[in-house]
Amino acid sequence: MPAKDLDQIVNLCKRRGFVYPSAEIYGGFRSSYDYGPLGSLMLRNVKESWIRTMVQQRDDTVLIDAAILGPPQVFEASGHLANFSDPLVDCTVCNRRFREDHIEERDCPQGKKGCEFTESRAFNLMFKTTAGPVEGSGADVYMRPETAQGMFVNFANVLQTSRKRPPFGIAQVGKSFRNEITPGNFIFRTREFEQMEMEFFVPPAEGPKWYEYWCQARLDWYVELGIPREMLRIRPHDADELSHYSAGTSDVEFMFPWGWGELEGIAQRTDFDLTQHANASGQKLDFFDQATNERYIPYVIEPAAGANRTMAAFLLAAYDEDVVNEEARTVLRLHPRLAPYKVAVLPLSKKDTLSPLAREIYGKLSQRYMCDYDETQAIGRRYRRQDEIGTPLCVTVDFDSLEDNAVTIRHRDSTEQVRVPIAELLDNVSNILGF
Ligand code: GAP
Repeated sequence: MPAKDLDQIVNLCKRRGFVYPSAEIYGGFRSSYDYGPLGSLMLRNVKESWIRTMVQQRDDTVLIDAAILGPPQVFEASGHLANFSDPLVDCTVCNRRFREDHIEERDCPQGKKGCEFTESRAFNLMFKTTAGPVEGSGADVYMRPETAQGMFVNFANVLQTSRKRPPFGIAQVGKSFRNEITPGNFIFRTREFEQMEMEFFVPPAEGPKWYEYWCQARLDWYVELGIPREMLRIRPHDADELSHYSAGTSDVEFMFPWGWGELEGIAQRTDFDLTQHANASGQKLDFFDQATNERYIPYVIEPAAGANRTMAAFLLAAYDEDVVNEEARTVLRLHPRLAPYKVAVLPLSKKDTLSPLAREIYGKLSQRYMCDYDETQAIGRRYRRQDEIGTPLCVTVDFDSLEDNAVTIRHRDSTEQVRVPIAELLDNVSNILGF
């Protein structure tokens, strides 16, 4: 039973330390969020799961980490200075600004009555700042609106140093910034967010094949990490939705509580970006295929996902409420790879007699896994807390453990409990988690 209402997740995130409104002690900073002790672990797990699939488990991709600030030349050539804009309308009554495509039949998205909207105008979404101390001295710089340009401007460097040849991919995970006109829906649309992007360079004739391949591969990734297939769909863009660089895009969409929403776009960027940068920089950004004696500018297929809204989707899909021993509980049925903690070590009592053994076990497990240690409150309440934050396994150390050198492993989803020798605990945990 996934969450029906976004507030179920927003409240859980605040209550348990996943996500807080940013600068809350000053009343909050609109549509900005800070990731707390659990959220920062989970967001990292989302990104690491992406890197694991897209880089670690492939021999045709490499990872980079490029600069966030860029000079105007990059965004001039990429077309972002001229084209990366949303249609903005002003309300002459309430003085608010909206994205034109968020207004239905001239109705105010905030539900206000009597709003009157101006004609729309293009509003560039990039954040601009100044490098160095002097404003207006020609030192304008931009905060990247996508990580992708880092891959294009480093194409020649990576080609030379990694000895890859098309088809091959350059991947990156990192922050991007957009001055969104209407951010909202919790961490779905914010002005500062993290992207997980891959530019996959292919011989031009292989473009359609790889586009199909990546649409399917990316859909599969969400399913493998626990999102039910029926909560996902692939939606091809209409021609009037395409970005300035795209010859065809499909989105992987998730059924959010408010309807279908984009998690990721898979775009056919063709040779647009490499050609633009080659022309603007005067550098050669092509590939010479010695086997065929041909020189060509590779085509690019780009799977581009957002880490934050993907985390929201994983939380919404994992949310469940059930009844255990006649008691209602909330449980996050997160895939173990995504769960903030994999194991919680819980001594049955706070008494000094159990703590040394429990801490020793925690010390061993935490060499391999992110673990929690908790010795406060009744054991039932501690289980509920771990269920609510998605911890797949609890290891309970009780007084018998001192005699039989065994502990109890409790499963989050079934609440089943099994007794295992301490000497075999790590193997058992690894078998259950699958890693
Ligand atoms: N390089 C291509 C590109 O940036 P995009 O569809 O604009 O394509 C890719 O962005 C992904 O980044 C989106 O599918 C979404 O998951 C995420 N994203 C984009 N804007 C966002 C925002 N304002 N807040 C959170 N995530 C965002």
